[in-house]
Amino acid sequence: MGFEKNPLPKSLSLSIRLGIGDSKNHISQIPNLKSINMTLFDVYPLFPFELTKAEGCYVWDENGNKYLDLYGGHAVISIGHTHPHYVKSITDQLNKIGFYSNSVQIPIQKELAQKLGALTGGYEDYSLFLCNSGAEANENALKLASFHTGRKKIIAFSKSFHGRTSAVVAATDDKSIIAPVNETSNIIFVPFNDEAALEVVMNDQIAGVIVEGLQGVGGVQVPTDSFLQKIRSLCDKFGALMIMDEIQSGYGRSGKFFSHQHSNVKADIISMAKGMGNGFPIGGIIIAPHIEPKHGMLGTTFGGNHLACAAAIAVCDIIKQENLMHNAAEVGTYLMVELKKISAIKDVRGYGLMIGVELDNYADVRKKLMIDHKILTGVSGKQNTIRLLPPLNITKSEADHFLKAFAEVVN
Ligand SMILES: Cc1ncc(COP(=O)(O)O)c(C=O)c1O
Repeated sequence: MGFEKNPLPKSLSLSIRLGIGDSKNHISQIPNLKSINMTLFDVYPLFPFELTKAEGCYVWDENGNKYLDLYGGHAVISIGHTHPHYVKSITDQLNKIGFYSNSVQIPIQKELAQKLGALTGGYEDYSLFLCNSGAEANENALKLASFHTGRKKIIAFSKSFHGRTSAVVAATDDKSIIAPVNETSNIIFVPFNDEAALEVVMNDQIAGVIVEGLQGVGGVQVPTDSFLQKIRSLCDKFGALMIMDEIQSGYGRSGKFFSHQHSNVKADIISMAKGMGNGFPIGGIIIAPHIEPKHGMLGTTFGGNHLACAAAIAVCDIIKQENLMHNAAEVGTYLMVELKKISAIKDVRGYGLMIGVELDNYADVRKKLMIDHKILTGVSGKQNTIRLLPPLNITKSEADHFLKAFAEVVN
């Protein structure tokens, strides 16, 4: 069966589509933009400027001010802003095909899986499910743990942040962002790094334990090696899945591909997003071979589309070619060693280029860094902590520039 022929004469059918000759047509009723009062729903405190240009570790505002970007749009910029290979890959892909849904073969998803697998250093035999954001990756991780075990209960930890949707916001330790509709008795909270408390609640009703590689929003809190190893052994004992949320700490930021690899453990499901697309929205989970897929179990319209895969493949290429994990380890260690010498700082925590700097007057220091020194940083206000989350290609001289400014501001 072919397509139905348009029964109307060409000129008439065109006037109908454009609404010409129809006094009630919508276009003629659209008012001038100046009279429209629609505003943005006000959910964020904002930096007092807009950004109009970005390159490498720098961004520029509308007045031409140049900022050293140690925030990376919330740990998203992994390979640096507007990297030429990244821009070219996305542009070339868009000129071929930008999107089609998962109803067709999308071979560049396989290319991405292979390139990602090669970078992971130990997870080559896992499989990849692609989606669009961090929260969505974690939702799929919890859902999969529940499907796989047939159980409902999830263990999460104090100071955790796993996203703002359904089950993952319930697994986030911040009551102020959990709406009544998200409340559930399926999440059990345990103090972070408390092995004894974990042992008490672990049993054969638990579907999974979700933990961040490095707690981000919680102020860059580092899980101890033995805590992660305890989670692993208890999950094995009770048939639960260990889910590592590497959305902020993953993709090379910690100096290893995943932060938990510092602790010599292996998870069953690992969630990723942020650095994965360097700003192009993409997320995903990698899944252990013992977890069997079924059609319909997980799904998405946009996840793994051509454009997102082109962006994520370019990120993998650049992480490898420019040895960015090594750079993150080297410059990150240097930064932490130098920061620990500054007496005003109460604590320095992290791995690689995910660094928390705790100090009393963190808000003031952060503001002065931005206004006086044109350096952008992140923050975990509840923990009095400035968060450093720069692009992974930051140089030692850029780190020195920051250290000099920081010392000047705190002294
Ligand atoms: C550890 C962690 N998990 C999940 C998320 C949620 O990611 P998204 O904002 O892409 O939904 C975040 C975001 O900050 C995060 O830091």
